[in-house]
Amino acid sequence: MNEKIIENALKYVKDFFENDASGHDYFHTVRVYNSAVKIAKSEGADTKITALAALLHDVDDRKLSPGTYESKYNAREFLISQNADKEEIEHIIEIIGSVSFKGTQSEVPKSLEGKCVQDADRLDAIGAVGIARAFAYGGNKNRKMYDPDITPKIGMNEREYFENEDSTTINHFFEKLFLLKDMMNTQSAREIAEERDRFMHAYIEEFLKEVKE
Ligand code: ADP
Ligand code: NI
Repeated sequence: MNEKIIENALKYVKDFFENDASGHDYFHTVRVYNSAVKIAKSEGADTKITALAALLHDVDDRKLSPGTYESKYNAREFLISQNADKEEIEHIIEIIGSVSFKGTQSEVPKSLEGKCVQDADRLDAIGAVGIARAFAYGGNKNRKMYDPDITPKIGMNEREYFENEDSTTINHFFEKLFLLKDMMNTQSAREIAEERDRFMHAYIEEFLKEVKE
Protein backbone atom coordinates (compact mmCIF):
# COMPACT_ATOMS: atom_id res chain seq x y z
CA MET A 1 0.00 0.00 0.00
CA ASN A 2 1.63 3.26 -1.00
CA GLU A 3 -0.85 5.73 0.46
CA LYS A 4 0.96 8.68 2.02
CA ILE A 5 -1.12 8.47 5.20
CA ILE A 6 0.03 4.88 5.83
CA GLU A 7 3.64 5.88 5.30
CA ASN A 8 3.19 8.76 7.74
CA ALA A 9 1.50 6.49 10.28
CA LEU A 10 4.47 4.11 10.09
CA LYS A 11 6.81 7.05 10.83
CA TYR A 12 4.57 8.26 13.65
CA VAL A 13 4.51 4.90 15.44
CA LYS A 14 8.26 4.41 14.95
CA ASP A 15 8.90 7.53 17.03
CA PHE A 16 6.08 6.76 19.44
CA PHE A 17 7.28 3.27 20.42
CA GLU A 18 11.01 4.00 20.13
CA ASN A 19 11.78 3.24 23.79
CA ASP A 20 9.22 0.57 24.65
CA ALA A 21 10.63 -2.55 26.33
CA SER A 22 7.29 -4.06 27.41
CA GLY A 23 6.65 -6.10 24.26
CA HIS A 24 4.73 -3.24 22.64
CA ASP A 25 7.58 -1.85 20.58
CA TYR A 26 7.49 -0.54 16.99
CA PHE A 27 7.99 -4.04 15.59
CA HIS A 28 4.91 -5.33 17.43
CA THR A 29 2.88 -2.64 15.67
CA VAL A 30 4.50 -3.45 12.30
CA ARG A 31 3.72 -7.17 12.71
CA VAL A 32 0.12 -6.38 13.62
CA TYR A 33 -0.13 -4.07 10.60
CA ASN A 34 1.29 -6.69 8.21
CA SER A 35 -0.86 -9.55 9.42
CA ALA A 36 -4.01 -7.42 9.75
CA VAL A 37 -3.68 -6.35 6.10
CA LYS A 38 -3.09 -9.97 5.01
CA ILE A 39 -6.16 -11.14 6.94
CA ALA A 40 -8.18 -8.20 5.55
CA LYS A 41 -7.29 -9.21 1.99
CA SER A 42 -8.41 -12.80 2.46
CA GLU A 43 -11.57 -11.73 4.29
CA GLY A 44 -12.49 -8.97 1.83
CA ALA A 45 -12.20 -6.13 4.38
CA ASP A 46 -11.19 -2.54 3.59
CA THR A 47 -7.39 -2.54 3.68
CA LYS A 48 -6.87 1.19 4.32
CA ILE A 49 -9.10 1.28 7.44
CA THR A 50 -7.58 -1.99 8.65
CA ALA A 51 -4.03 -0.72 8.09
CA LEU A 52 -4.58 2.58 9.90
CA ALA A 53 -6.39 0.99 12.84
CA ALA A 54 -3.64 -1.62 13.15
CA LEU A 55 -0.90 1.01 13.03
CA LEU A 56 -2.60 3.15 15.68
CA HIS A 57 -4.05 0.37 17.87
CA ASP A 58 -1.60 0.80 20.76
CA VAL A 59 -0.97 4.58 20.81
CA ASP A 60 -3.78 5.11 23.36
CA ASP A 61 -3.44 1.82 25.19
CA ARG A 62 -4.75 1.65 28.75
CA LYS A 63 -1.38 0.52 30.15
CA LEU A 64 0.97 2.42 27.85
CA SER A 65 -0.86 5.75 27.68
CA PRO A 66 -3.45 5.85 30.51
CA GLY A 67 -3.98 9.62 30.13
CA THR A 68 -5.29 9.30 26.55
CA TYR A 69 -7.01 5.91 26.89
CA GLU A 70 -10.53 7.29 27.21
CA SER A 71 -10.30 10.06 24.59
CA LYS A 72 -8.03 8.24 22.10
CA TYR A 73 -6.33 11.62 21.78
CA ASN A 74 -3.12 10.40 20.10
CA ALA A 75 -4.81 8.42 17.32
CA ARG A 76 -7.38 11.18 16.78
CA GLU A 77 -4.79 13.96 16.60
CA PHE A 78 -2.66 11.99 14.16
CA LEU A 79 -5.62 11.30 11.87
CA ILE A 80 -6.77 14.93 12.03
CA SER A 81 -3.22 16.09 11.19
CA GLN A 82 -3.44 13.93 8.05
CA ASN A 83 -6.83 15.36 7.02
CA ALA A 84 -8.51 11.95 7.24
CA ASP A 85 -12.29 11.86 6.65
CA LYS A 86 -14.42 12.39 9.76
CA GLU A 87 -16.22 9.11 9.10
CA GLU A 88 -12.95 7.21 8.68
CA ILE A 89 -11.61 8.71 11.89
CA GLU A 90 -14.67 7.58 13.86
CA HIS A 91 -14.49 4.08 12.42
CA ILE A 92 -10.77 3.76 13.25
CA ILE A 93 -11.29 5.12 16.80
CA GLU A 94 -14.13 2.66 17.35
CA ILE A 95 -11.89 -0.23 16.27
CA ILE A 96 -9.04 0.88 18.55
CA GLY A 97 -11.46 1.00 21.47
CA SER A 98 -12.66 -2.55 20.92
CA VAL A 99 -9.55 -4.65 20.18
CA SER A 100 -8.03 -5.04 23.63
CA PHE A 101 -8.41 -8.18 25.76
CA LYS A 102 -10.75 -7.54 28.71
CA GLY A 103 -11.15 -11.02 30.20
CA THR A 104 -14.72 -12.32 30.03
CA GLN A 105 -15.77 -8.80 28.99
CA SER A 106 -13.65 -8.77 25.83
CA GLU A 107 -15.50 -7.22 22.89
CA VAL A 108 -16.09 -8.55 19.40
CA PRO A 109 -15.39 -5.55 17.14
CA LYS A 110 -18.47 -4.50 15.16
CA SER A 111 -16.85 -4.18 11.74
CA LEU A 112 -14.96 -6.75 9.68
CA GLU A 113 -11.94 -4.39 9.67
CA GLY A 114 -12.01 -4.34 13.50
CA LYS A 115 -12.17 -8.13 13.60
CA CYS A 116 -9.06 -8.33 11.37
CA VAL A 117 -7.11 -5.93 13.62
CA GLN A 118 -8.12 -7.75 16.81
CA ASP A 119 -7.12 -11.11 15.31
CA ALA A 120 -3.75 -9.74 14.17
CA ASP A 121 -3.05 -8.23 17.62
CA ARG A 122 -3.95 -11.54 19.26
CA LEU A 123 -1.84 -13.57 16.84
CA ASP A 124 1.17 -11.52 17.97
CA ALA A 125 0.42 -12.46 21.59
CA ILE A 126 0.77 -16.19 20.93
CA GLY A 127 3.37 -18.57 19.49
CA ALA A 128 7.13 -18.02 19.73
CA VAL A 129 6.79 -14.24 19.53
CA GLY A 130 3.99 -14.30 22.10
CA ILE A 131 6.18 -16.24 24.55
CA ALA A 132 8.98 -13.68 24.17
CA ARG A 133 6.58 -10.75 24.57
CA ALA A 134 5.04 -12.21 27.71
CA PHE A 135 8.43 -12.57 29.43
CA ALA A 136 9.56 -9.14 28.21
CA TYR A 137 6.36 -7.62 29.64
CA GLY A 138 6.73 -9.48 32.93
CA GLY A 139 10.35 -8.34 33.33
CA ASN A 140 9.45 -4.78 32.41
CA LYS A 141 6.72 -4.74 35.10
CA ASN A 142 8.87 -6.51 37.71
CA ARG A 143 6.57 -9.49 37.73
CA LYS A 144 7.65 -12.91 38.92
CA MET A 145 8.30 -15.38 36.14
CA TYR A 146 6.94 -18.35 38.07
CA ASP A 147 5.71 -19.05 41.59
CA PRO A 148 4.02 -22.38 42.35
CA ASP A 149 2.19 -20.77 45.28
CA ILE A 150 0.34 -18.30 43.05
CA THR A 151 -2.29 -20.11 41.01
CA PRO A 152 -3.82 -18.78 37.78
CA LYS A 153 -7.24 -17.13 38.04
CA ILE A 154 -9.50 -18.41 35.30
CA GLY A 155 -12.53 -16.48 34.03
CA MET A 156 -11.62 -12.97 35.20
CA ASN A 157 -13.83 -10.05 34.20
CA GLU A 158 -12.37 -6.77 32.93
CA ARG A 159 -11.75 -5.23 36.37
CA GLU A 160 -10.30 -8.43 37.85
CA TYR A 161 -8.02 -8.85 34.84
CA PHE A 162 -6.59 -5.34 35.10
CA GLU A 163 -6.24 -5.49 38.88
CA ASN A 164 -4.49 -8.86 38.75
CA GLU A 165 -1.11 -7.27 39.42
CA ASP A 166 0.69 -9.89 41.46
CA SER A 167 0.21 -12.83 39.15
CA THR A 168 3.14 -14.44 37.32
CA THR A 169 4.10 -14.55 33.66
CA ILE A 170 3.57 -18.32 33.54
CA ASN A 171 0.06 -17.73 34.90
CA HIS A 172 -0.56 -15.23 32.10
CA PHE A 173 -0.57 -18.14 29.64
CA PHE A 174 -3.49 -19.73 31.50
CA GLU A 175 -5.21 -16.42 32.23
CA LYS A 176 -5.07 -15.05 28.69
CA LEU A 177 -2.77 -16.53 26.05
CA PHE A 178 -4.27 -20.04 25.91
CA LEU A 179 -7.74 -18.52 25.52
CA LEU A 180 -6.94 -16.54 22.38
CA LYS A 181 -7.06 -19.39 19.85
CA ASP A 182 -10.78 -19.86 20.43
CA MET A 183 -11.46 -16.12 20.40
CA MET A 184 -10.29 -15.49 16.82
CA ASN A 185 -12.90 -13.84 14.60
CA THR A 186 -11.73 -14.91 11.17
CA GLN A 187 -10.97 -18.28 9.60
CA SER A 188 -7.61 -17.00 8.29
CA ALA A 189 -6.45 -16.13 11.81
CA ARG A 190 -7.88 -19.30 13.37
CA GLU A 191 -5.67 -21.40 11.10
CA ILE A 192 -2.50 -19.53 12.07
CA ALA A 193 -3.53 -19.57 15.74
CA GLU A 194 -3.85 -23.39 15.85
CA GLU A 195 -0.15 -23.90 15.13
CA ARG A 196 1.04 -21.10 17.43
CA ASP A 197 -1.14 -22.37 20.25
CA ARG A 198 0.28 -25.89 19.91
CA PHE A 199 3.81 -24.49 20.11
CA MET A 200 2.97 -22.46 23.24
CA HIS A 201 1.41 -25.45 24.98
CA ALA A 202 4.48 -27.56 24.19
CA TYR A 203 6.70 -24.82 25.61
CA ILE A 204 4.73 -24.46 28.86
CA GLU A 205 4.54 -28.21 29.29
CA GLU A 206 8.34 -28.38 28.99
CA PHE A 207 8.78 -25.43 31.39
CA LEU A 208 6.58 -27.05 34.05
CA LYS A 209 8.36 -30.37 33.59
CA GLU A 210 11.78 -28.75 34.10
CA VAL A 211 10.82 -26.82 37.24
CA LYS A 212 9.53 -30.01 38.81
CA GLU A 213 12.66 -32.07 38.03
P1 ADP B 1 -4.12 -6.39 24.22
O1 ADP B 1 -3.18 -6.38 23.05
O2 ADP B 1 -5.25 -7.37 24.09
O3 ADP B 1 -4.54 -5.03 24.69
P2 ADP B 1 -2.12 -6.32 26.23
O4 ADP B 1 -1.55 -5.06 25.67
O5 ADP B 1 -2.59 -6.36 27.64
O6 ADP B 1 -3.25 -6.96 25.36
O7 ADP B 1 -1.08 -7.42 26.14
C1 ADP B 1 -0.26 -7.58 25.04
C2 ADP B 1 0.82 -8.54 25.41
O8 ADP B 1 1.59 -8.04 26.51
C3 ADP B 1 0.30 -9.87 25.94
O9 ADP B 1 -0.17 -10.71 24.98
C4 ADP B 1 1.51 -10.36 26.66
O10 ADP B 1 2.47 -10.80 25.78
C5 ADP B 1 1.94 -9.10 27.34
N1 ADP B 1 1.27 -9.00 28.63
C6 ADP B 1 0.21 -8.25 29.00
N2 ADP B 1 -0.11 -8.47 30.28
C7 ADP B 1 0.78 -9.38 30.73
C8 ADP B 1 1.01 -10.04 31.97
N3 ADP B 1 0.24 -9.79 33.01
N4 ADP B 1 2.02 -10.92 32.06
C9 ADP B 1 2.81 -11.19 31.00
N5 ADP B 1 2.65 -10.61 29.81
C10 ADP B 1 1.66 -9.73 29.67
NI1 NI C 1 -1.03 -4.57 20.48
